[in-house]
Amino acid sequence: MKVMKPGSTALYPVPAVLVTCGLETPNIITLAWVGTLCSDPPSVGIGVRPERFSHGLIAEAGEFVINLPRADQVDVVDYCGQVSGREVDKWAACELTPAPASKIRTPLIAECPVALECRVSQRLAVGAHDLFIGEVLAVQIDESVLDDQGRLDYEKARPLAYIGGYYWQLGELLGRFGDWRKGPR
Ligand SMILES: Cc1cc2nc3c(=O)[nH]c(=O)nc-3n(C[C@H](O)[C@H](O)[C@H](O)COP(=O)(O)O)c2cc1C
Repeated sequence: MKVMKPGSTALYPVPAVLVTCGLETPNIITLAWVGTLCSDPPSVGIGVRPERFSHGLIAEAGEFVINLPRADQVDVVDYCGQVSGREVDKWAACELTPAPASKIRTPLIAECPVALECRVSQRLAVGAHDLFIGEVLAVQIDESVLDDQGRLDYEKARPLAYIGGYYWQLGELLGRFGDWRKGPR
């Protein structure tokens, strides 16, 4: 037996990310309506309400950076999702450092372990949110989250998830892609 809920964005988990946007005076916005859309060209989507200060910055520049925070940066994520860059310099307030991107002009956040440099390829008015599709032109990974083979170590990167209004970090590793071939656990 299942209980019916009225239509809502019940999808979980979703990432909670810090998107940087804007050229002259860049801003930071927390977003959770974020997802991978396509492998080739590598593309991601972000849902942004038109009334957000960041919306105009992304639309005008045609680019943005998705900075992936570590779980211990949750307070920054929460803060940047509660105040507006119209009133507050979130870089200064959170003691974050802008660092140059490699393919676009928008800065990334030096303190975040991973940054996806995105150029807007499409914009779609969905309703309350506009969907910006961004082609990922480059990914910068901090050395501090690499393993000894030079691969991204997710235990070090400590992904942050957002579920039903709460922030979570990941728990136990369950297995690897294709493990079903080995038979039941
Ligand atoms: C966890 C979390 C997730 C959020 N996700 C989104 C989102 O996906 N899209 C959106 O438009 N706003 C989202 N917000 C709200 C914006 O981050 C918030 O309104 C922010 O203050 C806007 O900043 P700005 O005015 O500087 O652009 C989220 C806030 C939080 C705390």
